[in-house]
Amino acid sequence: MVQTGSPIRWGILGTGTIAREFAYGLSCLPDAKLVAVGSRTLGSAQSFAQAYAIPQVHGSYQALAEDPAVDVIYIATPHFRHYQDCLLCLNAGKAVLCEKPLALNAKEAKEIADTARRQGVFCMEAMWMRFMPLVQQAQALIAEGTIGEVLTLTADFGYPTEYDPKSRFFNLDLGGGALLDRGSYPLSLAFQLLGVPESVVGQACLGETGVDEQAAFILGYTNGQLAQLAATLRGYASNTAVITGTTGKITLHPPFCRPDRLSVTPYSEQPVVRSSQPSASPSAFKRQLVSLGKRIPLAKSAVAKLRDNTKTLSTPIQGNGFNYEAEEVMACLRQQQLESPKMPLDESVQMLEIMDCLRQSWGLHYPQD
Ligand SMILES: NC(=O)c1ccc[n+]([C@@H]2O[C@H](COP(=O)([O-])OP(=O)(O)OC[C@H]3O[C@@H](n4cnc5c(N)ncnc54)[C@H](OP(=O)(O)O)[C@@H]3O)[C@@H](O)[C@H]2O)c1
Repeated sequence: MVQTGSPIRWGILGTGTIAREFAYGLSCLPDAKLVAVGSRTLGSAQSFAQAYAIPQVHGSYQALAEDPAVDVIYIATPHFRHYQDCLLCLNAGKAVLCEKPLALNAKEAKEIADTARRQGVFCMEAMWMRFMPLVQQAQALIAEGTIGEVLTLTADFGYPTEYDPKSRFFNLDLGGGALLDRGSYPLSLAFQLLGVPESVVGQACLGETGVDEQAAFILGYTNGQLAQLAATLRGYASNTAVITGTTGKITLHPPFCRPDRLSVTPYSEQPVVRSSQPSASPSAFKRQLVSLGKRIPLAKSAVAKLRDNTKTLSTPIQGNGFNYEAEEVMACLRQQQLESPKMPLDESVQMLEIMDCLRQSWGLHYPQD
């Protein structure tokens, strides 16, 4: 039970890349205390503890899960371990924040959710993007009707990843592939902004190790909305998200999962001037309109409407951004909530159902499926 008024006591399970980032994120929160770390090897736990001034060191995940001085455990292991590491911590009565994706498939994620509910402990997928100030702002702007009715979302995420068939990115046994590692961001954004889709269809490029090195997919919604999403391990994607609506568009600038700039572009009314011979391209039409505008007042007003009146907001990320998801967990724990309303467990399960469906259509199966 979390004590009112005292800091929330965190433990970190796993000492890899993202564990280090998260430890820094926690250090930016005055009401968070990083009290313990657990690693498969005592030496790794000790050097991690030294780097982040952590008092308690555990040479096994089990020992961390059983540490009575810990309120909540951040799980920072590769995807294929999330299931077993979540169950270990939840069954020991610990609240859990588990890295994305929550598990390898929907079956595992459902069991994690059931265990958390049965044990009556908090559990959340660490989808840090959800809690970024400008991602929240995009959600609020859409809800306020700033861009009218939403029509489409386009988002892709990727950057070059060194090829190593044994790494967690390319190894099938470790849950490798672009969809789970990178595609979980555009997919989660679609859930956050458009809700639960009705259908999905996709294509993947499977590499030598059998994992999807690139993937593209489209989500369909009952009201006709579409989300065009993609992920890659092979190179840079645009890393931008664009939401179009009937009266404007919102752009989350790269990287959209941790944006510090958001643009809103309201659309002008349709130009009222029509050419007797419509031009083939919009730019030719615009040129024609501008030359016409020099002569005719009505065209002049149409030219003004074509001007780009994009407004861009800049909001610096505080800390390193991992602090926002940690803040959400701590707010939930203090309010005795067992799930975050912003990142509920059912959504983590539904997102894995979509990913299961795509993988099945590509013939991509993990040993755990
Ligand atoms: N939110 C984000 O922006 C973000 C970014 C990157 C990654 N992630 C997520 O974080 C998770 C970890 O990614 P990472 O890049 O930090 O991975 P990583 O650098 O490879 O670290 C993973 C850690 O997990 C532990 N581990 C347990 N079994 C392992 C095994 N068989 N092979 C390798 N490591 C094992 C190790 O810690 P010990 O040796 O101490 O036991 C290792 O240091 C992934 O699920 C990924 O999706 C999130």
